[in-house]
Formats: sequence, C-alpha cells, structure tokens
Amino acid sequence: MWLGVSVQIAFGCALATGTGLALMLSSPWRRGMVATGFPLSFALVGLASGLSALWWLLPLAVLALAYPARAWSDAPLFPTSAAALDGLDELIALPEGARILDAGCGLGHGLQALRRVWPHAQFDGTEWSQPWRWLAALRCPWATVRQGDMWAQSWSDHDLIYLFQRPESMPRAIEKAQREMRPGSWLVSLAFEAHGQHPYARLQHPGQRPVWIYAIRDHGAATTRSSACRV
Ligand SMILES: C[S@@+](CC[C@H](N)C(=O)[O-])C[C@H]1O[C@@H](n2cnc3c(N)ncnc32)[C@H](O)[C@@H]1O
Repeated sequence: MWLGVSVQIAFGCALATGTGLALMLSSPWRRGMVATGFPLSFALVGLASGLSALWWLLPLAVLALAYPARAWSDAPLFPTSAAALDGLDELIALPEGARILDAGCGLGHGLQALRRVWPHAQFDGTEWSQPWRWLAALRCPWATVRQGDMWAQSWSDHDLIYLFQRPESMPRAIEKAQREMRPGSWLVSLAFEAHGQHPYARLQHPGQRPVWIYAIRDHGAATTRSSACRV
C-alpha cells in the first residue's frame, strides 16, 4: 500500500496503460512487445529475485551474440513477409540461372520471398550474426548462406541484390551497386528508397511496404529511367 493505493490496483493501472498504448500501434509485433513488456518484466523480477545478479547478464550475452554491435549500424532483425515481393518478376526480367543475394539475410525470410518469385534462380545470403546465419541456412537449404559483412563482400557476381535495411543504408548501397554490379543488374530495396535516385519502378501492394527497384546501368551512372509504378 502506497499513497493509499493497493498493489493490485497499481498493477492493474500499469497493465491497462501498457495495453492502451499498445493498441495505438499498427504493427502486431510492436503491439505485443509494448503490451507484454511490463507484466513480463514484473514476473521476471519476481521469479529471479533469488538469483545471483550475474544471471541478469545472460540475456545481454545472448543479445550480443545474436546482434554483434557491427550489425547495429544497419538494420536489426525484421523479416520480409512471405508475399511482399510477389509480382517483382513482372517488372524485372532476370536471365536464366540468375544469381540473387539477400544482403543481410537475417533468418532467411527475404530469401524465401524471393524464391516464391524466381523459383529457379540461385540464391545467396550474407548475414553478420552467426546464430541468424545458422538458422537461415537451416530454413533455406537451397541457398548458400554465409556469415559476413555485406559491405565487405563484392556484389559483382550477382544479377540482383535484395536489401531490407535502413534509410541510412541506402546511399551506401546505391554507391556500391553502381561501382560493382554489372550493367543490366538490379538493386531491390524493401521499404527504403534511395533519395536522389530515380527508381526504375516501385512495387506497391495494398497495405504493404513499397519495394523500390533500381536498374544498374553503366558503371558510375545514375540508375535513371522513367519511374513505372505498379500499385
Ligand atoms: C531487417 S533484417 C532483414 C532480414 C532479411 N533480409 C529479410 O528481409 O527477411 C536486416 C538484417 O541485416 C543484418 N545486417 C545488418 N548489418 C549487416 C552487415 N553489415 N552485414 C551483414 N548483415 C547485416 C542484421 O543482422 C539483420 O539480420
């Protein structure tokens, strides 16, 4: 009892506030995290009160292993949804046996969405986090998934690079693609546009993130072309 309010009422108010705030969010993931954050931490504090303080470092160690600090400058794990890339093949004509790289492939959701579109292509994935890389390789046995830094590897052997990173990653991605990729190849970015560049096309499914498509022309040249939009 504090300020004349029982613990149960205070707990109920905190729970209601968290749930109310969660309902204002659009993403089901975020709603879940915000709504369960307080009760979960409350339960953990109760359950773990007898444990040595060292155990509290365990989740931190797991997080550091899954997300080495280097990957933080690009995007954390956020998967591409299964049908997000459907219809890309109507906008991009890839050659027979094309090689596609998901740069920062996470758990392999992007690779799976790409394979729905181009089932006969060859797939590679690069992921900085070693645990995610193992899981992606298990989930996508038809792809070659490597642990590594997507910025350090050459993109020159690929016909299409797929990215789902951050807005801040896009200038660097465009510059790397223009420097290394063959004319006639493609850079595809889920959600994030490369400002100052004309996209070749934008794929937009209702209620979904846009997919920005950049055609690589001559080395060093801008990826200009009239912007076709498929809504
Ligand atoms: C938003 S997730 C996208 C995952 C996957 N491409 C998809 O669409 O489902 C971004 C991923 O990029 C990885 N990543 C970030 N920076 C990286 C880097 N420099 N090299 C390799 N992977 C990186 C992160 O660890 C994370 O798994």
